[in-house]
Amino acid sequence: MQFLGSHLLSTEQLTLGDIDTVFQTARLLEPVARGEKVTRLLEGAVLANLFFEPSTRTRISFGSAFSRLGGRVLDTTGFEFSSFAKGESIYDTSRVISGYVDVMVVRHPRLGAVKEFAEASGVPVINGGDGPGEHPTQALLDLYTLHKELGRELHQFDGIRIALVGDLKYGRAVKSLARLLSLFKGITFHLVAPDELQMPSALVQHLQACGHQVLQTSDLATGLHGVQAVYSTRIQEERFPSPEDADRFRGSYSINRAVFEQHCQPGTVLMHPLPRDNRSEHCELNNDLNSHPQLAIFRQTDNGIPVRMALFALVMGVQDQITASLQDP
Ligand code: CP
Repeated sequence: MQFLGSHLLSTEQLTLGDIDTVFQTARLLEPVARGEKVTRLLEGAVLANLFFEPSTRTRISFGSAFSRLGGRVLDTTGFEFSSFAKGESIYDTSRVISGYVDVMVVRHPRLGAVKEFAEASGVPVINGGDGPGEHPTQALLDLYTLHKELGRELHQFDGIRIALVGDLKYGRAVKSLARLLSLFKGITFHLVAPDELQMPSALVQHLQACGHQVLQTSDLATGLHGVQAVYSTRIQEERFPSPEDADRFRGSYSINRAVFEQHCQPGTVLMHPLPRDNRSEHCELNNDLNSHPQLAIFRQTDNGIPVRMALFALVMGVQDQITASLQDP
């Protein structure tokens, strides 16, 4: 894709070459993410960070990434603090805000709503999650994490084996990651979920049509066997008709240290887009794994900063100035 001035709404826009461009740019910005270097690349630029659904990581990391590039961040969270509460449309909201800022990040609970923001906006819109639809920047940082954890360059990804576990029906991050992985060759996907929460059949057919091996199972032990990475996900209770509906599945695929060590081969990378649901002892990734060296979830969240900085640099067209702009703090 042409990054400069473009919206990023879906992983379907991205080629392997685009992903490589994002990763090369992210690597240049790693010292800034770690606070070892500073840059004023986006001085004078303004980001609107518009979150109409709860978020910790995505909102804060986009804001931090833009700030570390020298830009300013304007935030709004929740419908009640915008004029949506007075009946304003997405079209009007987006037209107005795009007159105030240089780029927007939008999260919205409704599938397709972020695309509507983009259609009305005069500035690039980045999808921060649209209902059960897509979470393309999470998928990029997940793939960046896999590349670092497995010690593989993108051209060495062909043939990897990964288990996607949990709510594969409503989880947008896991579906976006599956779409990005489908760009490689000969991936083995273990799709581990109860039948009612399996990955949508259209996406499974897409993975198979791309030549990948797909094993669908509701048995956790079978699904964990022989993979190099496990991507665990939360039951997305906010997308269920009622909390009681979601309760039926809570704890179904809880991985603790004993399960991990019994069923996964040594060196398996353990990932999760977060948040983990810690309200019961059946959290999908148990806290007894917190100090396990293969638990990559906090390295994964850290990787959100360089990847999101890279996307801003590319969309704003300043990527060629990165190296020259780096200064000591
Ligand atoms: N992974 C993710 O999207 O987390 P938040 O909902 O906290 O942004």
